[in-house]
Amino acid sequence: MSTAKKEYKRVTVKSLVEMKQNGEKISMLTAYDYSMAKIVDSANVDVILVGDSASNVMAGHETTLPITLDQMIYHASSVVKAAKRALVVVDIPFGSYQSDSKGALRSAIRIMKESGGHAVKVEGGLEIKDSVKRIIQAGIPVMGHLGLTPQSIYKFGTYTVRAKEEAEAKKLKEDAKMLEKIGCFGVVLEKIPAQLAKEVAESLTIPVIGIGAGGGVDGQVLVVHDLLGMTHEFNPRFLRRYMNLYDEMGAAIGNYVTDVKSRSFPSEDESY
Ligand code: KIV
Repeated sequence: MSTAKKEYKRVTVKSLVEMKQNGEKISMLTAYDYSMAKIVDSANVDVILVGDSASNVMAGHETTLPITLDQMIYHASSVVKAAKRALVVVDIPFGSYQSDSKGALRSAIRIMKESGGHAVKVEGGLEIKDSVKRIIQAGIPVMGHLGLTPQSIYKFGTYTVRAKEEAEAKKLKEDAKMLEKIGCFGVVLEKIPAQLAKEVAESLTIPVIGIGAGGGVDGQVLVVHDLLGMTHEFNPRFLRRYMNLYDEMGAAIGNYVTDVKSRSFPSEDESY
């Protein structure tokens, strides 16, 4: 398999399929604001996900359910301004696409028009098929999300690994095939057995991006605050922390407090 990387000035949904065909792994990371998105985009991350995990990470909610469409649009419009290369995918939040397909399309259109995002992501399979079809028919690229779908956390009861049982694994495979068939440009698989994720990735022509789904998929996604170690209470096995910013930022801010209290900040050089 080729590891040579083609240069992309702007990543599109077509580029992602091409990356899969060329055996190039796809990098995807969340961002919810302009400053973080600028760093993520400059580091050549292929896809920036304005995830509804903003509900947890930015707003401090326990689940992703409370975040609203207006709030997602606010986060996404900040990210879009910073993303010069990455494809920006925006989560449609809980309650904004599940009731009927017309409502789902209305939500997707608001995201595209008001934030400038390039694509939307939705959670679920057969249950939301009509909504997904309708959004795609309007020319809006859709990414699916199967496995541990956090918007259904109260149905699952826990954040443990999904699709370990045969029946759930079978449904997940069928849902993934269906999402490809109706025109989704990619699928996220969250927290499922690596072997199952690999089989799904091999059975589809569209890219499969994993989080807690092993290395046999076409790309990986993480929440940027987790990767940077800004969150420290969330420690799933799939998470690789590349920094410990929670401690480093805390120490830096602690030093600032000490300097203010001791009057060593500001110095003469830092004054006018
Ligand atoms: O909202 C989010 O951050 C996500 C990823 C975990 C895939 O959906």
